[in-house]
Amino acid sequence: MKKFAVIIAFAIISFRAAADEGMWLPLLLGQETYNDMVKKGCKLTKEQIFSLNKKSIKDAIVSLGGFCTAEIVSNKGLLFTNHHCGYDAIANLSTVDKNYLKDGYFVPNQESEMPAKGLFVNFLKDIIDVTDEVNKDVANLNGAERQKKLTEIFTAMSKKYSNADKFLTARVSTFFKGNQFLLFVYETYNDVRFVGCPSESFGKFGGDTDNWMWPRHTADFSVFRVYANANNEPAKYSPSNKPIVPKHFLPVSVAPKKEGDFNMILGYPGSTNRFEVSYGAKMSRDITDPAFVKMRAIRLTAMKREMDKDPATRLKLASEYANLANYWKFYDIESKQLRTRKVVERKAALEAIFLKWAKGKTKYENILNDYEKNYDEYLPYEKLKNYMQQGIAGSTALTISNQLNNIANLMADNKVEDAKKIIANIDKNRNDILEGIDLTADKAIFAEIAHAFNKDIVKAQQPANIFEKIASFGDITKVSTFEKYADGAYAKSLFLNKTLWAAFVASPTSEALAADPLVAHAKAFYENWNKNYIPKVNAFNLKNADLGRIWVAALKEMNPKKQYYPDANSTMRFTYGTVEAYVPRDGVKYDFVTTASGVLEKYIPNDEEFDVPNKALELMENKDYGQYEDKGRKDLVTCFLNTCDITGGNSGSAVLNGKGELIGLAFDGNSESMDQKLNFYQPLTRCINVDIRYVLWLIDKVGGAGYLINELQLMK
Ligand code: ARG
Repeated sequence: MKKFAVIIAFAIISFRAAADEGMWLPLLLGQETYNDMVKKGCKLTKEQIFSLNKKSIKDAIVSLGGFCTAEIVSNKGLLFTNHHCGYDAIANLSTVDKNYLKDGYFVPNQESEMPAKGLFVNFLKDIIDVTDEVNKDVANLNGAERQKKLTEIFTAMSKKYSNADKFLTARVSTFFKGNQFLLFVYETYNDVRFVGCPSESFGKFGGDTDNWMWPRHTADFSVFRVYANANNEPAKYSPSNKPIVPKHFLPVSVAPKKEGDFNMILGYPGSTNRFEVSYGAKMSRDITDPAFVKMRAIRLTAMKREMDKDPATRLKLASEYANLANYWKFYDIESKQLRTRKVVERKAALEAIFLKWAKGKTKYENILNDYEKNYDEYLPYEKLKNYMQQGIAGSTALTISNQLNNIANLMADNKVEDAKKIIANIDKNRNDILEGIDLTADKAIFAEIAHAFNKDIVKAQQPANIFEKIASFGDITKVSTFEKYADGAYAKSLFLNKTLWAAFVASPTSEALAADPLVAHAKAFYENWNKNYIPKVNAFNLKNADLGRIWVAALKEMNPKKQYYPDANSTMRFTYGTVEAYVPRDGVKYDFVTTASGVLEKYIPNDEEFDVPNKALELMENKDYGQYEDKGRKDLVTCFLNTCDITGGNSGSAVLNGKGELIGLAFDGNSESMDQKLNFYQPLTRCINVDIRYVLWLIDKVGGAGYLINELQLMK
């Protein structure tokens, strides 16, 4: 009996340890991996999931705008994605009076669908392995020389396979830190139209408080449609375009879910760095994350202050705010989790095993020493990098003033024509730029970041003369001194002043630029950074790229039987797993689904994050869920968990059952998996999905757009 128990325990542990990690390249889906999928409940052949020449599920999955994933759900090109993926497009279509973002909206009919300017979708058409072709030209190159050659090769290959008239774009992507190269051909549809979304109170229910958290009740979806020309080909926007007739669309299943059900996800994960060495994880934990988080917190606080004062500012800054807040919270938790989960120590343990194996192998035995040295040399500058990129660059007036400083340099070099080109470009965009920012927030960010910079960055790395100048406004340790300085600088800025700017555009002079205190500020910070530190960052990155290539090749050689998957790089990936609950901490078990009852529990009338609109409230209180009700639970299931391996960029991805039917949309990771960029922690990593029945209920019963449901192929 005892022996039996031991065997079972082992079976469970090894099942959990072996399953579900992996963002597989669907083209190279190995037999072993596929067999595991079938064992877990996959009913499809490999070719039904992914094929380059036959119709397959992949034809219904698109990259949305290059930053999210979306899927086609009808034979008329209806597109589902996350609310937070459509957020910016929806905000751009909204006004304070017709606020689709805040109040939600579904168009009454197809004719009313609105072009979402700038939003596009990419269909994957082809993949070509170009590894040998690339390698034959770079085999013996390292560092900058290699980088330069790679750029040349990639550009040439991309040109060869792209065709602008046919909206085809080819791109070479790098895998396994430079050990493999694949060329991807995408077909771009630029006419994407907004169909509808729930109110923000549903689409972003729980706001930043619930972001990255389980239990979750967010209806993170929005609906668009892809349009094509009369021949069903991609075309730029035209009122005469018609909904695309897709090669494949996903049927939708409203069947209940059980723990253990097979799930799979095809999508476009953006980036991970799972092969990172211990030195890199340590730098993230101790330097990068805290600096990044501090800079973003300053910006978020300044923006929120103004957003709370007026609805127009709220709408204007909503999208940027949500974006900044998302990874502000992520890296805050990441840093703590890298510590509590001992990720640096885990990586060091693997490296110790590696060192034993590598002993005597000249190609490999010094690699970790070289890594350590590269990190050690670079570490002193990492904080500065984050203060520049996440802080100084956080004030738009300042980044534009940096461009003005570049103009001053061009004029000093007598490159008048080049200078004029940049001026014309800034002038063309000036109104849009000014409309997109809130000057009070921008100025507060400028002042507070400069204050933090002075306080936190070592003197040797600070720009010369600038803080001396600021000290003439008062006590340099006080934020109020920087605010006084900022008031003067913003008041005298060329770019911000309509009359001064018009005079400058009419006749650009170096005197006008020299009199601008924002330009002087930009000059001090950016020239210090560009001249003294960017070369160090570049040298570090190039060396790390060379080392990474050897490191990954060595790991594969050390473990020839292990199935490795490449880090995410915004190319299409396949991940699968099962619907599963988890135990986040001692004494607590989380269910694998949430329900509308939980929405009512979280409901706080008029709260910014937890409000529920009246109509939906009434329907929920009457349990009016129609065909979307979960009969077993006598409730509406809102979100669910599975063990799939996703990251940012996967947002909006279709979650499919074993028959290839849509059962939900992936939209988040749980807070217990915030080390997932650098490490996959099997027991606690979950993917958070909105249940398709919640989506359909909101479209149909709350949104009053039942006609859209008729377009779907519902499986019961
Ligand atoms: N964490 C989600 C993701 O990265 C985005 C959620 C957006 N919501 C928000 N409250 N900022 O995909």
